[in-house]
Amino acid sequence: MESKARIAVLVSGGGTNLQALIDAQNSGIITSGEIVLVLSNNSSAYALTRAENAGIETAVVLKKECADSAGFERKMLDELEKRKIDMIVLAGFMSILSADFVSHFPERIINVHPSLIPSFCGEGFYGLRVHRAALDYGVKVTGATVHYVNEIPDGGRIILQKAVSVEEGDTPEILQKRVMEQAEWIILPRAAELVAARILNERTA
Ligand code: GAR
Repeated sequence: MESKARIAVLVSGGGTNLQALIDAQNSGIITSGEIVLVLSNNSSAYALTRAENAGIETAVVLKKECADSAGFERKMLDELEKRKIDMIVLAGFMSILSADFVSHFPERIINVHPSLIPSFCGEGFYGLRVHRAALDYGVKVTGATVHYVNEIPDGGRIILQKAVSVEEGDTPEILQKRVMEQAEWIILPRAAELVAARILNERTA
C-alpha cells in the first residue's frame, strides 16, 4: 500500500500557490501526501515551469482541443486516473468543475480562494476581481479560504481561513500580494496536509 496520498495540483497561471505546496513538501509541512502531477488548462502557465524545476510530471489539457466541456473534463479525468490520483488541489485553476467531475472525488478536491468566504466568492469572482470587489465594498479585513469543492462554486465546506488587513491606499495588486503572502501560501499547504492525512487514515481504518 502507498504510504502517501497521491496529489494532483490543477493550475492555470503563475503558480505561486503551487510553489508554496512544493516548498511545504520539501520543508516537511506536507508529509502525508506527494505531488505527483501538475495539470494545466493553459500551456503557457508559468506554474508548469515551476513543476518541471521541481521534477514533477506535468500535463496540459486544452478546452479548445475538446468538443465541449464534458470532453475537456473527461480528458482531465483520464490524466488523473492514469496516475491513480487520490486528491486534487486547485491552485489558481480558472475553470469551474461540473457536478459530474466533482462526484469522482467527493471531499477530495480542495480550492484556495482569495477572500473570506462567503464574501466575494462564487461565479465571476476570481483573481484580481476578488480584491477589486473587496476594495470597492470598503471592507477593512479580507483574507483567504481553503474549502472542499462541491457542485456549488466556492460553496463546499470550509477547511481553513486566515484574515488579512486592508490598508489605506491598497490597490487590487497590492492587496492580492498581501493576501497571498499572509494567508494563501500558509493555509493551502496546511489544508493539503490535513486532507492527505485524513485520506491515509481512511485507508487504514
Ligand atoms: C490566487 O490568488 C488564488 O487564490 C486565485 O488565483 C490566484 C492564483 O495565483 N484563485 C481564485 O481566484 C479562484 N477563484 P497563483 O497562480 O500564483 O497561485
